[in-house]
Amino acid sequence: MRSLWRFWPDVRARLGVYLFIFVLTLGSMGIALLVPMITGWIVDGPIARGDFAGMLAPLALILLIGIAEAAAVWLRRRLIAPITSRWEVLWRERLYDRLQYVAVGVHDAWPAGQLLSRAVNDLSQLRRFFAFGLQFLIASPLIVLGGGIILASLHPYFGIIAIAAAVPTVTAIAVLERRYRLASRSAQDTMGEIATDVEEAVQGIRILKAFGRSPWAAQRFRALSERLRGFELTKAYVDSWMFDAAIMIPVLALTAILAVGTWGVIGGWMTVGQVIAALTVTMFLRMPIEMVGFLLADFLMSVTAANRYWEVMDLPLDITDPDGEISEDPQPHSYAGHIRFDAVEYRFADAEEPILAHIDLDIAPGETLALVGATGTGKTALAALLPRLQDVTAGSITLDGADLRDFRINELRRIVSVAFEDPVLFSTTVRENVAMGLKHADVRALPAAETGTSGRAAGASGTETATSGPESGTSGPATSTSGLGDAHGPDAEVWEALEIAAAADFVRRLPDGLNTEVGEQGLSLSGGQRQRLALARAVIGKPRVLVLDDPLSAVDVDTEDRVQTALRRVLGDSTTLVIAHRPSTAALADRVAVLEGGRITDTGTHDELLARNRHYRDLMGASSHAAAETEEVRR
Ligand SMILES: Nc1ncnc2c1ncn2[C@@H]1O[C@H](COP(=O)(O)OP(=O)(O)O)[C@@H](O)[C@H]1O
Ligand SMILES: [Mg+2]
Repeated sequence: MRSLWRFWPDVRARLGVYLFIFVLTLGSMGIALLVPMITGWIVDGPIARGDFAGMLAPLALILLIGIAEAAAVWLRRRLIAPITSRWEVLWRERLYDRLQYVAVGVHDAWPAGQLLSRAVNDLSQLRRFFAFGLQFLIASPLIVLGGGIILASLHPYFGIIAIAAAVPTVTAIAVLERRYRLASRSAQDTMGEIATDVEEAVQGIRILKAFGRSPWAAQRFRALSERLRGFELTKAYVDSWMFDAAIMIPVLALTAILAVGTWGVIGGWMTVGQVIAALTVTMFLRMPIEMVGFLLADFLMSVTAANRYWEVMDLPLDITDPDGEISEDPQPHSYAGHIRFDAVEYRFADAEEPILAHIDLDIAPGETLALVGATGTGKTALAALLPRLQDVTAGSITLDGADLRDFRINELRRIVSVAFEDPVLFSTTVRENVAMGLKHADVRALPAAETGTSGRAAGASGTETATSGPESGTSGPATSTSGLGDAHGPDAEVWEALEIAAAADFVRRLPDGLNTEVGEQGLSLSGGQRQRLALARAVIGKPRVLVLDDPLSAVDVDTEDRVQTALRRVLGDSTTLVIAHRPSTAALADRVAVLEGGRITDTGTHDELLARNRHYRDLMGASSHAAAETEEVRR
């Protein structure tokens, strides 16, 4: 229940309209209760007296009541939709925002589908609840209460009957409520697992096919679906009992009213009009009473949905600005880019031993430091410390003398650019994927035509030509210049970054150049092409500090050398930490640091290390040995 209350601030902001809509809900249901009263009055009055003219006024009144009811229903639907759909958007945005700023570890621990199902299913459940469920859940009992009072006013006996009929229902619902809530939670969680499974199966479709494991995947999925079906069935069974309990009230009441009414009319202490009015009121109450069962189920599902929503919203924002917040709008300063690691230790939250310990490193402004080490020694972990994807667990890292933790987080990430070995591309154009690397301040400085396309929802490729239309004012058809153009105009920065990453050539050959949609995770591109786009994203806008975590592992040696040379030339004054596994990369760096057993065991130039460090020779030698082998094979 508390989790639903937490939406109160949003409801309060629109409380006036929301209450007005509630009055409409109540009115549209309650006004119909007048009809039985009028009917009873017609039976005892005009019909008993044979006075046809006396019928006209009550008939007109009944017609008016019908029209008023229809108008209220129309107006409530009209008014509620904009409000609750606005809320849904707001909550979804907040959820998304939260996910952007929770610790990276959270994403390791939470299956993607669980987050997906919360952002999609649970929030639409909540929207429906605030639009209909909640209003009717409060209105229906009030209507039933009103009906009970009318019954009591028709005759005290009828009032007693109404109360007696309510007792078994309320008891049954109290008993069933808990079971329903548990099943509902399990069902919604399983929904999250299903989303995860589908996501993985789609992502890994090539692997599944290549290993002939599609039947295995299908079976796993079937088991999950069956489990969901089980929970849904439990819900349906419990629900049918709740529904039954609700239906019993009017049935019991109708029987009792007929019995007592007949007895009363025969005994002469009740009129036929009274009995007919009581029967009709009870009939009218059937609808709200039966709805209570359904509304309760809906309410319980909404409580679960709200719980699941707040579980995500309550995840700690563990990496924040020094004041515990995350400000969107960092003040741009200029930095020299002097990086210092001081007795840095890093331990994964769930690990016993630190993976990195006693790391001391000093990277001068503009220097390129290559980090070399065997697989699994923690190079990636070390790289993640610089943009503060993870925080050091002891010691400190400073940038120009200031601890990284004293920077505003968005400011730091504006200074530090990263490219990882595993390139992630988003479902949008090549241009947007690369321009994403431009940090807030720079994006704002871009010409309007450029920013107009970025930030647009993915997958709207059809509108691409239309939106870039205005650019054509300067030179020829817009799509061809911006898509396949050279180093001028709004795309100049993108092209420059692509050149550095040795990606310009293949992008030019893509069907729509920069406007080519790279599908989900860039499925249509090769691994090396994706890596080069991810690298272009890292180098666009010439970041002060560049962290390259083996970003060219899937690229051939020649291309890698070309990229490294371009990097040195264009980003000569960027401080660069590059994780390297090829001698050529290491040779191009100003200095090389060797990571071994979680420590920096040696630093020096590539040649110095080759001369004096056996482990380094092994690390590098392995590749040159392999190279010699391939050389031989070629011959
Ligand atoms: N969340 C985690 N908890 C514990 N150990 C982890 C976690 N993530 C990665 N590791 C381990 O940390 C080690 C270092 O990983 P990584 O930095 O990726 O190595 P490298 O990049 O040098 O190959 C690996 O052995 C990996 O198994
Ligand atoms: Mg790695």
